[in-house]
Amino acid sequence: MYQQQTCDDGVYDAGFEGIANDLYEKGYAISDLALPRALAEQLRLQVINSGSDKFHRAGIGREKHHAINDSVRTDEICWITGNSCAGQAWLDWTTNLKDYLNRRLILGLFSFESHFAHYGPGDYYKMHLDAFKGEANRVLTLVAYLNPDWKPEYGGQLVIQTGKGEQNKRFVFPTFARLVVFLSEDFPHEVLPATRDRYSIAGWFRLNTSQSNRVDPAT
Ligand code: OGA
Ligand code: MN
Repeated sequence: MYQQQTCDDGVYDAGFEGIANDLYEKGYAISDLALPRALAEQLRLQVINSGSDKFHRAGIGREKHHAINDSVRTDEICWITGNSCAGQAWLDWTTNLKDYLNRRLILGLFSFESHFAHYGPGDYYKMHLDAFKGEANRVLTLVAYLNPDWKPEYGGQLVIQTGKGEQNKRFVFPTFARLVVFLSEDFPHEVLPATRDRYSIAGWFRLNTSQSNRVDPAT
């Protein structure tokens, strides 16, 4: 399935290998090959067919610190469960990716959570980090895009700050089946407003314990 083949130390997948290499070298990866287009299409249909009642305004912070704050983000989200075929296929695929990265980079990734996000025209998510140093919670962020025929003039770029200054900003359009992966504590990022509806999935791998999350190659 999905052009994977077995070899001695598990499943080899060219898309997963590219992500592992980029994560090791740069701490982030942008791939148009890793996410199977058939899976992206299943997820796209799921998100456009699920009624808007399934979505709720995204907040910031957890539990009692949870707050809706228009100055930070204005998108709406829907958590992904295994209750739909598309949701289960996504969870199976992200488990394969997790196992692959754990084998290649000894990241110690354990659990995974993810949600669909809908940004209507004009919606945004200001510069933020998905995890804070020392809290050892979210280790690796995954973002997948579900927008066929996205044109640059629609805007809606993900901007990743890969170092200091304007010259170290990476601008990523949310084109169909594109996958972005980065170390959650290390890369501030933001979502620029678009002129169209913009659909994505954001997910996070967490550690089991509060151990080091340093990238540590297997070889
Ligand atoms: C997030 C996020 C990016 C995107 O939900 O934390 O940064 O491009 N999403 O949807
Ligand atoms: Mn984020």
